[in-house]
Amino acid sequence: MPPATVEIRHTPEQAAEALRADALTGLTSMPKWLPPKWFYDARGSELFEDITRLPEYYPARAEREILAERAPELATITRPSALVELGSGSSVKTRLLLDAFSANGAPDGTAEGTPSGILREFFPLDVSEQALREAAHAIAETYPALRVHGVVDDFTSSLAVPDGSRPRLVAFLGGTIGNLLPDERAKFLTSLRDALDGGEWLLLGTDLVKDPDTLVRAYADSQGVTGEFNRNVLHVLNAELDADFVPEAFTHRAVWDERQEWIEMRLRAERDMRVTLPGIDLEINFTEGEEMRTEVSTKFRREHVASELVTAGFELHSWWTDAAGRFALSLARATP
Ligand code: SAH
Ligand code: AVI
Repeated sequence: MPPATVEIRHTPEQAAEALRADALTGLTSMPKWLPPKWFYDARGSELFEDITRLPEYYPARAEREILAERAPELATITRPSALVELGSGSSVKTRLLLDAFSANGAPDGTAEGTPSGILREFFPLDVSEQALREAAHAIAETYPALRVHGVVDDFTSSLAVPDGSRPRLVAFLGGTIGNLLPDERAKFLTSLRDALDGGEWLLLGTDLVKDPDTLVRAYADSQGVTGEFNRNVLHVLNAELDADFVPEAFTHRAVWDERQEWIEMRLRAERDMRVTLPGIDLEINFTEGEEMRTEVSTKFRREHVASELVTAGFELHSWWTDAAGRFALSLARATP
């Protein structure tokens, strides 16, 4: 097999245009806000990987535990020919799926011991081009019999699921669906369902509601890595819009919203500031103590996930959690 190929569906020009539109909308709103997808330039993607190794950030370990336990069963149930991964990042945990699904489960490339049909194609999809390229090439190296085709795209705008061989399994891991607002989530799930054939599969990772202390600690770690990740959006605005944010003048906040059942990440201005953004011809003011929302991370309950899936045209086949019940993987099937 040739090394991984990468297709740019969302060009840098389109990304720049989308960032200008989002920054203009969010920074002129009251309160100010920014969508979380702008965390992920190359540095933001690396910071996220650092977060996954923090002792307080349990979701990555909990999801890995479920994948390790359930991947063989998942392979037997779904028998995919193509695996599509949305918001794939480093695709590190995905290797547990690839090991169970692909003909490369055995290091010599034979199908020996694989419990399912043979996985032929892997399509990681992400907005973060550098992270995607690195992951796609690393996976292609480990799994030489697999066709690896990376797609740089934004899954919130007109989602087109890569047209691989059928049946496809779409994995959306990490709890990233929780970073979408409720109306964005409904739109996303519906367009995902529309892009699949009846009977194709979705594997969805969702973090679960739990005690607020554990949740807040996962988003306000003692080493300050999540704060750096949060402030990275300001570095992105400085680089892309020629803005003059002073990131160190903003402190990281993680707040549990009991009513919405989400963690809200915010940046708090530590003094009065005027910020100019020549790239969108905008000047804005922050007052001391003002907080800007940069992310929501929704936590779910089983009924909530099941009803959103059904509304979008999926049926829930399996619900798996880690032993401590912190995180869930839902396996759902597109209804015919
Ligand atoms: N799935 C990985 C990474 C999760 S981090 C894991 O579980 O560890 C979230 C990933 O989603 C990042 O790689 C980020 O670049 C990507 N992402 C965020 N918003 C996106 C969007 N709108 N479209 C495509 N990718 C997006
Ligand atoms: C990618 N996403 C699921 C992470 C989360 O937990 O919501 C992003 C993150 N934000 C702060 N820490 C991690």
